[in-house]
Amino acid sequence: MASGFPPILTGRMTEAPGDSHTIARYEATGGYTTLRTALSGMTPEQVTEQVKASNLQGRGGAAFPTGVKWGFLAPATPRFLVVNADESEPGTFKDRQLLERDPHQLIEGTVLSAYALAVHHAFVYVRGEYPKPARRLQRAIDEAYAAGFLGSDILGSGFDLDLMVHLGAGAYICGEETALLNSLEGKRGEPRIKPPFPAVEGLYSRPTIVNNVETISNVPWIVANGGRAYASIGDPASAGTRLFSLSGHVKNPGNYEIPMDLTWRELIYDIGGGIPEGRELKCWIPGGASAPWFVPAEHLDTRVTKDDVAENGSMLGSGAVVVMDDTTNVVAAAHRIVRFFAHESCGQCTPCREGTTWLERMLWRILQGHGRPQDLDMLMDVSDNISPGLTWPPAMTTICPLGPSAVSPITSIMKYFRDEVEEMLAAGVTT
Ligand SMILES: Cc1cc2nc3c(=O)[nH]c(=O)nc-3n(C[C@H](O)[C@H](O)[C@H](O)COP(=O)(O)O)c2cc1C
Ligand code: SF4
Repeated sequence: MASGFPPILTGRMTEAPGDSHTIARYEATGGYTTLRTALSGMTPEQVTEQVKASNLQGRGGAAFPTGVKWGFLAPATPRFLVVNADESEPGTFKDRQLLERDPHQLIEGTVLSAYALAVHHAFVYVRGEYPKPARRLQRAIDEAYAAGFLGSDILGSGFDLDLMVHLGAGAYICGEETALLNSLEGKRGEPRIKPPFPAVEGLYSRPTIVNNVETISNVPWIVANGGRAYASIGDPASAGTRLFSLSGHVKNPGNYEIPMDLTWRELIYDIGGGIPEGRELKCWIPGGASAPWFVPAEHLDTRVTKDDVAENGSMLGSGAVVVMDDTTNVVAAAHRIVRFFAHESCGQCTPCREGTTWLERMLWRILQGHGRPQDLDMLMDVSDNISPGLTWPPAMTTICPLGPSAVSPITSIMKYFRDEVEEMLAAGVTT
């Protein structure tokens, strides 16, 4: 997604040149020309209009339209822009590569976005376990200040922006935007009750836009080429290209940038090379650990658009596609995911704090051959307490979606692999 160039359709990100993170390489490939053009010839409203016309949807998980979110920003000043680089959803590793290999694209996108939003202070909240991406980003920010792309009177335009990096401390929940804002303020990283939404009352109670790294990294291309050009890529309702982190039982794992009108078969088999060692595809997680699973008999020829995935009861989420072959013990896989959520629960809500721990312990008991006959019903009952009705999208009894996320693997294995769970239970039932 280099500025001034078309997106690298079906490109594998690891093929970027070794010095792609430097300002010299970025400028040599057209970087910062869009910023020069925008600051000298476009009003903030015109930049916003292009983002609205692009139909860009947030890449952090909820796929909320970016232009619409920007429109909610309350007029009060000071106001802030926060780039969410906490990337901790299991299976997701796209933002890491954007930070490590293309930090100037993110910086250019941040300055353009801040200009559009009349923001003069922006932050990038980087996952604590990402020291190398954070170092790379900080070095790039230093280069950008030295070159006049950040700081006071950027490129003689009269527009000022300061950009700072904040390193998290290793809590997954700080990726949730309001927990992130609390953490940035030096408080415990706990989600806030919404409303008010950050666009009205965010960082230090000021109007704040929170956007994902990939979302903001799209802005230079959109401003350079026009929102309509971006909207014409992929599916009309899921515009543009999107990064998918493909992992698990595929021959060619990696980050791939693809237009969102391909099918899962094309992503897993044509791009990912298919399942290694002649084994069969059993199932896959289409959008990070929080997403309900897909199975080949029903979903292989459906498309990777937001709407198609939602119609089939799941979400594209953070773009993490985890592929499982026919040797996978699905109970063990579900347990691993539930254990993650139980560990990362911030503990504010009883259904999440207690429920995720119960689910984890029951799955562990079944795996150890000590399952009880009533365990299946109890798994569903506890899940129903966290996410009433077990619907998709989930109904919530909690402040944030982390609790309901832990239910996705449970409902997935009960829907598609109930016979395997029952078999495992029967093999080791204790009464
Ligand atoms: C438990 C939880 C974890 C999240 N983690 C991340 C994350 O690591 N990175 C991210 O960009 N968004 C994450 N989100 C989504 C953010 O709350 C927010 O919607 C997003 O940063 C907005 O950016 P976007 O509109 O560009 O997608 C998470 C949400 C939840 C509920
Ligand atoms: S759902 Fe879980 S993680 Fe989210 S606020 Fe409640 S206890 Fe914390």
